[in-house]
This record gives sequence, structure tokens and C-alpha cells, in this order.
Amino acid sequence: MSNNAPQASQTPQAKYRKDYTAPAYLVDTVALDFDIRANHTDVSATMSVKKNPAVASDQASTWALDGRAMKLLSISIDGQALEEGGDYELSEQKLTLKQLPESFTLTLKNRIEPDANTALEGFYRSGDILTTQCESNGFSRITYFPDRPDVLSRYRVTLTADAKQYPILLANGDCVAQGAVADEPGRHYATWEDPYPKPCYLFACVAGDLAQIEDQYQTQSGRDIAIRFYTDHGNENLCDHAIDSLKKAMAWDERVYGLEYDLDTYMVVAVGSFNMGAMENKGLNIFNTSCILASADTATDRDFVTVRDVVAHEYFHNYTGNRVTCRDWFQLSLKESLTVFREQQFAADHDSPGVTRIDEARVVRNVQFPEDAGPTAHPVRPESYIEMNNFYTITIYQKGAEVIRMMHRILGDAAFNQGVRHYLHKHDGQAVTIEDFVCALEESSGTELNQFQLWYSQAGTPIISTNEQFDADTGRYQLTLKQSLNKKTGAEQGGDANKPMHIPVACKLFGANGEETTEPQLLQLREAEQTWEFDGFTQRPTPSLLRGFSAPVKLQNSLEQAQLIRLMHNEDDAFARWEASQQLLLNALISDVENPSKGASGSDKPSLIQAFTDLLANPPEDRALLAEMLTLPTESYLAEQFEVIDINAVLSAHSRLQSELAQALAEPLQNLLDASQTKTVYRFTPEEVGRRRIVAICLQHLAAAKVPGIEVRCLETFQLADNMTDTMAALNAIRDLECRERNNMLDNFAERWQEQPLVMDKWFSLHASSRIAGAFEHIQSLTQHPKFSLQNPNRVRALLGSFARANLQEFHRDDGAGYKFIADQVLALNVLNPQVAARLAGCFSQWRRFDGVHRDLMQAQLQRIKQAPSLCADVFEIIEKSLA
Ligand code: TRP
Ligand code: ZN
Repeated sequence: MSNNAPQASQTPQAKYRKDYTAPAYLVDTVALDFDIRANHTDVSATMSVKKNPAVASDQASTWALDGRAMKLLSISIDGQALEEGGDYELSEQKLTLKQLPESFTLTLKNRIEPDANTALEGFYRSGDILTTQCESNGFSRITYFPDRPDVLSRYRVTLTADAKQYPILLANGDCVAQGAVADEPGRHYATWEDPYPKPCYLFACVAGDLAQIEDQYQTQSGRDIAIRFYTDHGNENLCDHAIDSLKKAMAWDERVYGLEYDLDTYMVVAVGSFNMGAMENKGLNIFNTSCILASADTATDRDFVTVRDVVAHEYFHNYTGNRVTCRDWFQLSLKESLTVFREQQFAADHDSPGVTRIDEARVVRNVQFPEDAGPTAHPVRPESYIEMNNFYTITIYQKGAEVIRMMHRILGDAAFNQGVRHYLHKHDGQAVTIEDFVCALEESSGTELNQFQLWYSQAGTPIISTNEQFDADTGRYQLTLKQSLNKKTGAEQGGDANKPMHIPVACKLFGANGEETTEPQLLQLREAEQTWEFDGFTQRPTPSLLRGFSAPVKLQNSLEQAQLIRLMHNEDDAFARWEASQQLLLNALISDVENPSKGASGSDKPSLIQAFTDLLANPPEDRALLAEMLTLPTESYLAEQFEVIDINAVLSAHSRLQSELAQALAEPLQNLLDASQTKTVYRFTPEEVGRRRIVAICLQHLAAAKVPGIEVRCLETFQLADNMTDTMAALNAIRDLECRERNNMLDNFAERWQEQPLVMDKWFSLHASSRIAGAFEHIQSLTQHPKFSLQNPNRVRALLGSFARANLQEFHRDDGAGYKFIADQVLALNVLNPQVAARLAGCFSQWRRFDGVHRDLMQAQLQRIKQAPSLCADVFEIIEKSLA
């Protein structure tokens, strides 16, 4: 029985959305028995099966069940043992039953090996805990079953295990029985029942020696919900923030969408080895520890935000995903985008809404736009996939959420909210499609969304360009918006690329002195080109477009520097205000890259510096917004602006402007830092988070400016810090300064936190992002560090992920050693954990965009990976698409 070894012989095949057919057989109930032993687990399944009445009855009476990496021990139908060959056929991934009656009881038993399962899908070990991860197709590593989301069944699950080693036995729903096993001393069992029919990807069970933290929530209708969090012993005191966040999410969903939790218990288990952030299994969420554990001294403000939002996200899935689920995996965005949007609404209600929106826009532009322009681009509703796990992408999640947000804007809050309620009511208990969702919104609101649905089928980022006319005599201002879409990206995925889309462009016009001259309005662009007229101006106004990042598009902005500065000072929309500051900086960066000898001469540098000096003299009230405005666009966002990326020119332009700006602003930044570094007890409030963000950005700039004494200032901040946010601010600032303080701080940190894996991840990331001399050699040696393991996804992301994504200088070394290092790790991961290997392999996907030297070096590594024996389907798909 090979648990992970990929099937080398056959080329993985693509599945197509157009090939969907309804399931031939349905499974009404499943009884699962997990007999957990030292070296294996035996799973016994009893299913009541019936022919799907919705499928024509003349179809062949065969039924193919999915099952991999397991051994079939016995199988019978209605008590009658089956014969291989005659009654069923068994292959690597399928069990095909033949000559079946209309309805029957299927009983089977199979053996699995959780301890040998390094892929972390199906039933596997994380430390001392046995746990599951079934989305998207992990259930077929547990038992033979139709592993597809449109087969909904009621589950009754019994776990039997050694009582000492596994005192806690959990599964979905409510515990209906538990006790000692009569004839086997030392063993015990627990039986769980979930009354809600669910697809198998929502199945979960856990066995282990876990600490249990108990809490309670009373719903608005007065029902008492038992909240139980489970974690490794010793981490009990790190769950408060997650529990508090869950209760906030429960109250929020009641208040905003009228949705109340529907079981008596809500369980959350935190595990250290997990491929993703968390999983919404019905009544039994399983979380990466990184998305649960948080205390002031171990977690940064950013971590607190992540915990809050992921906890809320998984909770919101209980309706958008669980009660109403997906018909097939092409519909993944149905549950993910709506849940992300709900999570974003929740976040905006508990945080600085402006900065929350800025963070979202930044992620879409820095990460999703490149994906949408690269070889793995796909529509929000993909047409095909080879390995579904590769489609848990920023496009499905974040662009999908932007698509939902646009409908929210077009319909208005009240109509959208009603529409979602209507959707959940109409399809409760069903597995449906994205079209069903949009249709429900249309029905409920009376708004037509036909053209709008192109957002689901066309890949690629639309580009909007502007054209203005102003007639001083009549006072008429005309604004023309033109949209275009790169044809190739959409068409490759079988979409109908290049039809004009329905794009909501939020707009406001500002007068020459920055005064606003119109009410905000929504321009609904539906044609390839469309013109709007505004009357009554004495002077040419400045248009502020895409306010609130109203659509995930690239706006080719032709605003002059003086206009950008006007918006930077006068906009009242946080995103638009921040965007003006970013555009100013970006223009300076671009002109430096294009003409390095002259520096950023294409832009007016003195007036740029003056704009930021003025900003510091007259800052926005929201400290977090000020911090955002003081932050340079990322190197990768700058790189994105060029057809061919000259990576060295991009990096040096970036560091040049960073230090020039910092030097010019050093004095006001020093003052701001002094005023912001107040000694208070850690509180996670928007005001305090904003204040700490200011401290971090000031330290970062002053370090970039190399102002005298900055090393000592970082060290003092580090020594006085009573929370991880300030600690990390000091470490991040000093990271690239070669000095004694830096090394002492890093060593001291490792010494203090060596027994806390999540905190050590921060240390690995710091080293992985470092650019001082010798950093690369050190990063390579860290793969041998006793606290590093390729088997743990968090460690891989902390060291290798940070290196490939955040250390552009060392990853893109001219000698190609950075690429070779990562390719080596992809190959090592390929046989351990396909999902994690494929994600890491994705860091080469942009290779074609780079200058010749770097392009060839990356291509060579892609080719090398492709040639490796037994590539898993996950990596195969990413490499094939990258090279195609
Ligand atoms: N449905 C999960 C979420 O978004 C995603 C997820 C968790 C997942 N674990 C996974 C997806 C493993 C694929 C594989 O909340
Ligand atoms: Zn989700």
C-alpha cells in the first residue's frame, strides 16, 4: 500500500466543467467505524444506497466509488459477500460495482495507514493527534465512496482507540454514546451523529490527547451552544482571542444575515500540521494552529487579525458552504467567494474599514493580478482542472470576493442582503451552482445580472483607460472610460474572452483646490467605451475613480502629479486617498527603472517629498491609514508594471527611492516615532494597532535612511517590547543592517522562543527575507536546523515560501542558485506533500516575464522538475502550465 507515491506511469488527466453528470447513485446514510490501532486504522462503512431518481433508469447499473492509498479487506451488498472480477473491479483509484439493484446496503472494510500519510489529506497524524482533512478529495483516502460534493448523506461515526493515548474522540455533530470497550481493556469508543446531510468533504474526526477549553454562546433565540476548543496541552491560554472572535462572528451573522448556529456544539481543533489555514467541517472545524493560537507576546497584530478573520470565515461557511453547498468543484467559488466577502464585511465592522479595504485591494493587485496575467490564470469559475487542490487560488477566493462585492455595490446593501437570505432559503440542503446564486440575487432584487456574469467566465484583469474633455466656455466636463481585456487569458480557459464586462466604477470629482464638486456616484461601465457628462464647472475637475477599489481592474490613470497630490490630501475615501499616495510613489519608481542614470527624474521629486512632508504635518486621524500611505508600493507590484521585468533595475530603483524618501523625511519620522512609542498595556483595538503600525513604519524608514543610532533604537524597542508586534517591528527594521545588534537580537529571539513552533516560524521568515552578505548561504543551511522540517507546511512556508516570495534579491540571484535551491526543495516535497510542493513550484510561474538571464535560469529549473521521475499530479499540472 503506497500512501503518497505518485502514480508515475499515467499522465494525469484534466476534468471539464461541461462533462458534469448527476450521480447515478445516492447515499442516504453512512455508518463509519474507525478502529484505530498502533500501525493502521481499519475503517468499516455501511451505506444505504439508492439509485438517483433524477437520473434516467435505463442507465447501466454500475457504480464507481473513489478510493486511493487503502486496502480493501471485505465487501458485501445486503449481507452477501462480493467477488472481485464478477461483482466488482478494483483499480488504483476506483472500486466499480456491477449489476446493482435499485437500492441496497453496501458494507465494506478497508485499511489505511495514517502514520505513513505525509500528504496531510485523508486521515493523518499531526504530532500526537490523528486528524482528517477531506476537502477537496481527501475522503477517498479514508474509505471507498463517491467523493463528490453533490452526494449528501447523514453520518453516524464511531471511533475506537486506546483510552490513554487517545482520550478525546471527536466527529461531526453530537456525541450520542461513549464508553469502555467491553472485551478490550484500555480501549474506549465514542459515537457521533450529525443530523444534517452533508457531502463527504465536510466529514471530520479527531483522536488525541488534547486540552479542552469550554465556553458558551447563547443565540438570539435563546439556545445555548457549547463551544469547545481543543489544542495541545500547554496552549490552553492561547485560545481566548479565537473564542472571542467566534462569539463575535456568531453574533454578527445573526445581526446582519439573520443566521443562527444550528447544532448544539461548535468544536474547533487546532493542529500543528495542516496544509491550509482551516477547514469548515460541520460542527468540527479543524484549524492550523497559526489561525487559532494568539497572545500578545507570541502573536503580532497581523496574526490577531488573521485569527479573528479565519475563525469568522469558517463559522460563516456553516451556511455559505455547508447548509448550501457546491454541486461540483468547478463551483468552488460559490462557497469561498461569498464566505470571504462575508468575512470582509465582518472585518470592516470590527476594524478600521478603510485600512481593511486597502489591505484587501493590495492583496488582489499584488498577488491576484499576476496570477490572472500568468500561465495558471483561470476564470473565477474554471472550465477544467487536473488537480483540484491547485484551484484553491487567490482568483477563486479574493477575485471571487471582489465579484460578490461588485454585485453588492450594484444592488445596494439592503437588496444584496435580502438576495443572500433568499438564496440560502431557496437552496437550503442542496448542492448548487454559481448560476443558482446569481439567479437568486436577480429574483430577489429584480436587477438583471446577465452581462455581469461574464466575471465568472472571463479570466484576466480588465484594463480601464480614461479620456477627458473640458469645455471652459460651457463648463461641461466629459469623462470617457474604455475597457479592454487581454484576449488570450480568457480564451485559453474556454471562456468567451473579450466581451465588454459590467464594471461598477465609483467616482467623485474634485475641484481645483481639492474641494469636492459632486456627490459620489457609480458609473456602470457596460460598453467597450462609454462617456459621461458633468456640467457646471468653472475649472477642469480632478476625477477620483475606482473609489473603495470598486472593481478588480487596472486603471490606467493619466492624472498629473499635482492632481494626485490634491487627492492624497483631500480624498475622504481611504482607499482612494492611499491610492493617490501610492500612484505618486509608483510613478517615481517607474521613471527610475526606465531611466536609472537620472534617478526618479521623470517625476517631480521635490514636490513628491513636499507632499509627504505635508502629510506628516497634517496626518489623517486613522493612524493605520497614515502608516499605509507612508509605505512604498512593494517590489513585486513595481515589477508587475513592466512587460519585461529587469529585476535588478526594479530592486535598485526601489531601494533608492526608499532611502531617498526616508532621508528626506527623517526628522518628522523621528518625531512621529517618539510620539508614538508610548508605554501602554497591549490591547488589540484599531487605535492601538494603528499606533503600533506607525512605530513599525517609522523604524523601517529610519533604518532604510541609515540614520545614526537607528541600530540602538531598534535594540531598545526590542528589549522594551512587551508584545510580539513591537518585537517584530524592531527585527524587521534591523534585518538588513549589518551590525552586532541585529545578530544579537535574532539569536536572543531564537533562544527565547525555541519551544514555540509558531514563533520560530517568524524567525525562519526573518532569515529567509534577509539580504545581508551571506544571507543566502545561511538560508540554505536553515533547512538543516533542528526546528525545521519539510514535513511541516508552516515551516516550509516560513522558510521557503518567504524566501521565494519576499526575498526577491536572493531568489533572483544572477547565478541562478536561488532558483536551484527552491527547485531542489520542490522535488523533495513532491514525494512528501503534493499540495505544498505544488504551491512552492508556483513561484516559477512568472518566468516568461523576466529579462533573458533570469527567464532562462527559471525555465531550466522548471524543465528539471518536469523531468523528475514520478511527479505528483499537483506539481505536474503547475509545471506543465508554466512551461506551455
Ligand atoms: N475550505 C477551506 C477554507 O477555505 C480551505 C481548505 C482547508 C482546503 N484545507 C484545505 C482546501 C485543504 C484544500 C485542501 O476555509
Ligand atoms: Zn473557505
